[in-house]
Amino acid sequence: MERTLVIVKPDAVQRGLVGEIISRFEAAGFEIVRMRLARPSEDLVRRFYSEHEGKPHFARLVTYMTSGPSCFAELRREPAIEQARALCGATDPDDAAPGTIRGDLGIDLPRNSVHASDAPRSAEREIALIFGEEADHRPAAAGAAG
Ligand code: CDP
Ligand code: MG
Repeated sequence: MERTLVIVKPDAVQRGLVGEIISRFEAAGFEIVRMRLARPSEDLVRRFYSEHEGKPHFARLVTYMTSGPSCFAELRREPAIEQARALCGATDPDDAAPGTIRGDLGIDLPRNSVHASDAPRSAEREIALIFGEEADHRPAAAGAAG
């Protein structure tokens, strides 16, 4: 089944919106595979967002993502990537449609409340970065034996 890495970002954790945001994914049919609250190191954030290195917003993105804890969640459904990005809405909360997470809850750039992987390969890379060092306690796929 397709997987995605969703992050409830620091602005949303700080405002007590973890439940609200994860609920939207559950209501849309996503299953939680793994989830963890943690404040990432600067090194981890730089690696996570390495494709943004050199862009004008890179420094503020790193500062923001290390400012407090985020909720990291590996979620799955079919299809996961496209559906999760649709739930999040446009990157800039000012452009995000009402009913999307960023449209309803986002503040500005970079404080747009949520991240979702942009492609299956990104999801695999991001999940490995965030959960790679952990023992794998993922539940079996729904409907699987056992
Ligand atoms: O998160 P998404 O994939 O929608 O957007 P991105 O272009 O990959 O940018 C990653 C993150 O950088 C955004 O979610 C924002 O938090 C931040 N950003 C920013 O601060 N200023 C920009 N002009 C673009 C992105
Ligand atoms: Mg992106």
